[in-house]
Amino acid sequence: MRYGEESAAGAALIAWYDRAARVMPWRVGPAERAGTRPDPYHVWLSEVMLQQTTVAAVRDYFRRFTARWPTVGDLAAAEDAAVMAEWAGLGYYARARNLLKCARVVAQDLGGRFPGTAAELRTLPGIGPYTAAAIAAIAFDEPAVVVDGNVERVVARLWAVEAPLPGAKAELTELAGRLTPAVRPGDHAQAMMDLGATICTPRGPVCALCPVSDWCAARAQGIAAELPRKAPKPEKPTRLGFAYVALDAAGDVLLERRPEKGLLGGMIGFPGSEWSAEPAPCPPLAADWQEVHTVRHTFTHFHLTLRVFVARTEGEGFTPRAAFSPAALPTVMRKVWDAAQSALSPQPE
Ligand code: ADE
Repeated sequence: MRYGEESAAGAALIAWYDRAARVMPWRVGPAERAGTRPDPYHVWLSEVMLQQTTVAAVRDYFRRFTARWPTVGDLAAAEDAAVMAEWAGLGYYARARNLLKCARVVAQDLGGRFPGTAAELRTLPGIGPYTAAAIAAIAFDEPAVVVDGNVERVVARLWAVEAPLPGAKAELTELAGRLTPAVRPGDHAQAMMDLGATICTPRGPVCALCPVSDWCAARAQGIAAELPRKAPKPEKPTRLGFAYVALDAAGDVLLERRPEKGLLGGMIGFPGSEWSAEPAPCPPLAADWQEVHTVRHTFTHFHLTLRVFVARTEGEGFTPRAAFSPAALPTVMRKVWDAAQSALSPQPE
């Protein structure tokens, strides 16, 4: 893209969005957009859910949250444990704790109304520069510069930026700003995201279908699929741990709520060891523990291998089976539960 071509490319992008916008439960699509603003609560909730998570994974969570808590005031009044349980499986659980904090600030201090500028939104819990810009643009039509991974990729290609991420971030943000229009900035941001998700994809971009391919420097140079370049990431280490599933005769389960701070903070889980290079076994009670399985899970900064132990035993503080919902477990604990179940249920001959 050359200097001065931004508005022509932007117009082609918006025209494409008007034809091809993906349908999403939180979105007011281009056809309904005239006179209708998306609900800031919906935009905020969806953007927090979409941090580090795909649209496909978020859809059903968004529907369940808004059915159960139709307004930010309803969410603010929810019990912490209920929100953590609904969030289970989405990962990055600090997001759910900040979601509640933010809902309570908006409901209690701001009269239930989200602030309308990116600068104010950024002061709220769990709202970083990306999310603030996205809410301001989509819900309030502020021409904020919205830069997520999709936008970085589209921009890196349009201008054939060869500098690798994450170092190139500032340059890509500046270029994204040049492309951001004063009119319909929210639809522009969503058009960039949709383009990145459906056509300007990480591998195998479909340039033949791209509405802005005429302006794309990377396409002209035949390097679209190679951009953006990325600085090599350090290898993830593998940590080890022990997890213990204790069941009594009634099928009641020994569970614990994890501390608020740290990984899976505030979530329900099975007792176990620390996760480290050399954890020590630490059964939560004396019983005939049987090792049944090994569970693997990958977090942002490490791989985890958990050895799963199961015992039939009696003890204090077990959660009644009827009060325990495996769906409320974070994914790694869900894997532990599934492993324990498959070991306990009779195997087909
Ligand atoms: N990813 C994050 N927010 C999005 C949105 N509003 N539309 C499409 N993809 C997104």
